[in-house]
Amino acid sequence: MQTKDYTENIVDVKKIVEEKKKELRKRIEKLKKKNIVPKLAVILANDLDSSRIYVNNKRKLCKELNVEEVEYILDNDIKTEKILEIIENLNNDPTIDGILVQLPIYKHLDKERILNSISYEKDVDGFHPLNLGKLLSNQDSMIACTPKGIEYIIDSLNLDLEGKLAVVVGRSVIVGRPISQILLNKNATIITCHSKTVDLKKYTKMADILVVAAGSPHLITKGMVKEGAVVIDVGINRKNKKILGDVDTNNVAKKAKYVTPVPGGVGLTTVTALIDNLVTIAERRLKK
Ligand code: GUN
Repeated sequence: MQTKDYTENIVDVKKIVEEKKKELRKRIEKLKKKNIVPKLAVILANDLDSSRIYVNNKRKLCKELNVEEVEYILDNDIKTEKILEIIENLNNDPTIDGILVQLPIYKHLDKERILNSISYEKDVDGFHPLNLGKLLSNQDSMIACTPKGIEYIIDSLNLDLEGKLAVVVGRSVIVGRPISQILLNKNATIITCHSKTVDLKKYTKMADILVVAAGSPHLITKGMVKEGAVVIDVGINRKNKKILGDVDTNNVAKKAKYVTPVPGGVGLTTVTALIDNLVTIAERRLKK
């Protein structure tokens, strides 16, 4: 008996990211010829190993792409006012293009005041309400790194979303809400599901494109997807020392046209999307 190989339905995200990096290198070279080196400021105000790993990944890519990076590693007795002062200085520093506060931050800090104090023009993370509002208005804006990375995948697969039904599972400000808006701006019809949705399967089974950012290992099984659907898995769940996505990839690949893997999927795109935002801001210096 012959068994069909479904691995061709699993998206090669690494290749997509390599293409993006190639594009970015060219843009960075062009800036360098005008004596502009993009510079990122990273503020780390927590003591989590996971956040340190994320910050290390950001530093590594900055180094690889020859952009500058400066880090503010803050102790757990840091005050909100002190962080606001640091951000104010970075906002006013013309050599700094992008500012990000790695999340989460120490619980005693005022997260909203801190994030909102970053100039929306230097908001590489796209978390500022003004950037989220611009996205809602279908205006040019900084888009958060995970939804922007998902957009890379959608664009490289040449998907025409017009009139298609897109179902997003998750409504976070960082992923679910912005990706729903991005898909809406691409003329898809949107359903945003979340933890209070009754009968999730009813919606996921209808989806031409299904984006899952629920944080629940293997939530989406083969029986929950439509034949020929495109499935984007944003989940990164640690279970028994393994990393699992929100989608049962190997089984879903038997039914979907495309499914992104975990690990090696959306997670690979996000830091590149961050540098893309940083370079976009630095390019504005050319127009000043
Ligand atoms: N923590 C988890 N994801 C992110 C992200 O995209 N940006 C920041 N600043 N913190 C995070």
